[in-house]
Parts: sequence; C-alpha cells; structure tokens
Amino acid sequence: MKQTYRILKPSAQNAETARQRFLHDVEQGLSQSPKSIPSRYFYDETGSKIFEQIMDLPEYYLTRAEYEILNNSRQQLAEMMNLQGFNLIELGAGDGRKTRVLLEYLQSAKIDFRYIPIDISPGAMATLQEEVSACCGDLEMLGVVGEYFQGLNWVEKQVGGASLVLFLGSNIGNFHPGKAKVFLRRLRQVLRPGDFVLMGFDLKKDTRRLNAAYNDKQGITAQFNLNLLNRINGELAGAFDLDNWAFYSWYNPLSGAVESSLLSQVRQTVHIGACDRNFVFDAWEAIHTEFSFKYSEAEIESMAKLAGFLVVHHFYDNQHDFVDSLWRVPA
Ligand code: AVI
Repeated sequence: MKQTYRILKPSAQNAETARQRFLHDVEQGLSQSPKSIPSRYFYDETGSKIFEQIMDLPEYYLTRAEYEILNNSRQQLAEMMNLQGFNLIELGAGDGRKTRVLLEYLQSAKIDFRYIPIDISPGAMATLQEEVSACCGDLEMLGVVGEYFQGLNWVEKQVGGASLVLFLGSNIGNFHPGKAKVFLRRLRQVLRPGDFVLMGFDLKKDTRRLNAAYNDKQGITAQFNLNLLNRINGELAGAFDLDNWAFYSWYNPLSGAVESSLLSQVRQTVHIGACDRNFVFDAWEAIHTEFSFKYSEAEIESMAKLAGFLVVHHFYDNQHDFVDSLWRVPA
C-alpha cells in the first residue's frame, strides 16, 4: 500500500493557533453590526457528522446531483483531460464519498495518477485514508494536512507533474463573490499551464427548492447552525443557552445566496469566558452564519475568465440543478 500523509505543521501548535483564531473571529464577528460568525467554524467533529446527515437529506439535492454528474461523466472527463501520471488534488476532501466514484473509475481505466487530498483536519484525513484504502487498495495517496494554499504550494514544489484540482460540493458558494474571485486568482497563480480545475457550483433555480434545501423538515440544518453556539460554549467557555436561539434561512434573489442566521428570541447578554466579555443581543437580532451562493452559467464563465482560466466543459446532472465546470490553465 502506498498511502502516506504529510502534516505541514505540528498538530499541537495547530490546535492552539486554531483556537486563538476561532476566539479572534468570534470576538470580532460578535462585535460588529450585523453580528456574524464565519461558516468555516461549522466543521468541528460534531458539525462534520451533522453535515454528513445533511448530505443524505431528501431536500438537500446538491450532493446527489454531483454524485450523479461524477458517475455519468467520469469517462468523458478523463478523455477530455487526456492526462497520464497526474496529481488528482482535492481541496477540502471531507469524507471523499463522491470522489471515490472518480478514483475507482480512473483506476479501472488504468490511468496513472496519485490522489492528493488537502484538508486542515487531521481527523478528516485519517478517515479519508481508511475510506481510500477500503475502496482503492493500491492507489497512491498522499494526504496533506494544512491550509489549501499551503498544501498546493507544497505539492507544486515537492511533487511536480500535471494536476487536476477538485473543488467540489459547491464549497465555492460559501465564499462571498469578491472573496471567490481572489481565491480563484490565487489558485490560477499556483497552477501551471495545462493543469485543470473541476469546480462544483449549485445553479440558480426555483426559490422554493432552495428554501426547502436549507430548511429541512427534520431540523438537521438548524442543528448544524446551533452547533456553532455549542462549539463556542465548549471551546471558548461561552454561556449560550441554545433554547433562546432559532435558526432562520432564506434565499435572497437579490444577493443570489441562501442567507442563514441564528436569531436571538429574547433580549439577552451572553458571557464568553475565553475573552472575558459580555455580548448583548436584542430580541430577534441575528447572527449571520452562512452564505450559500447560487450561480448562473454566465456568472461561472465570467468568474473563470476573470481568474485566467479557459472553460473546457460544463458537466450537468439530468435535472440541471448543479454543474461541475472543467477549466484549464492556458499555455
Ligand atoms: C458545504 N456547503 C457547500 C454547504 C452549502 O450548501 O452551503 C453547507 C450547508 N449549509 C447548510 N446546508 C449545507
């Protein structure tokens, strides 16, 4: 078995820096108006498990649509790229359940590649490694534990060869469009001519379906959001009483995003021990928790062009709910 993983920073140092950053972002987010907490903090161990439940929800069509795309288009994708001996780099690999479809196909088609997932969480990487060894035995996997660009720079210097970078699951949708543009330009800069990117976007659609996807009947998405407050309680000695909070989410066609928040149902003061500060919330005041931007094909193409990529092909699911867009770095 050729599966190894590389931690780019010692994990004890990582853990303390991560806690400091969490505290800094929470303190800053709750001091501004409107109040907010960055959505990347959803994904502690509990949050990641809840997100797995979200991906299985009947209302949350995104994961199924992308699974269908990868399953139906993997051969065409491989033919279009026509690469051998390449790096299949995945940003924010999660549990790899969709990627597995691609890995299995490439292996069975005898295409030579190595799988390089990059993820900030050592726990997620260990789980992924188990998944990959179960499905793809002798696949060469080099897991990189670190930030996306830290990992990409490391791969470009240490590994060499052509790359396909996967950024799936509409993760780009959680970036504000201005930040998405900066992210894509940076991605373009670390890649070499001839490299490819496969980027997953959720498409604009009937607002009723969007609202249903983020307001599931079982209340799992609400739990996912409320877990942020639990996390502050556990890691930063917060005193949030979860019974005083309600989840609220709706699609705003003017911003083009599902906008999610937690609403304070009463006027309340909450102490956070780690910074020894009180935060006052008015009745029905919101903490913004997440943007989930939805895109049109025209917006996707203009984003790709602006960042310096050539759009090669859009792969759709049968209902045209979702697109995996294949881009190439021009020569
Ligand atoms: C990870 N991300 C693309 C998900 C989304 O659809 O914005 C996170 C999520 N939030 C609520 N449901 C799912």
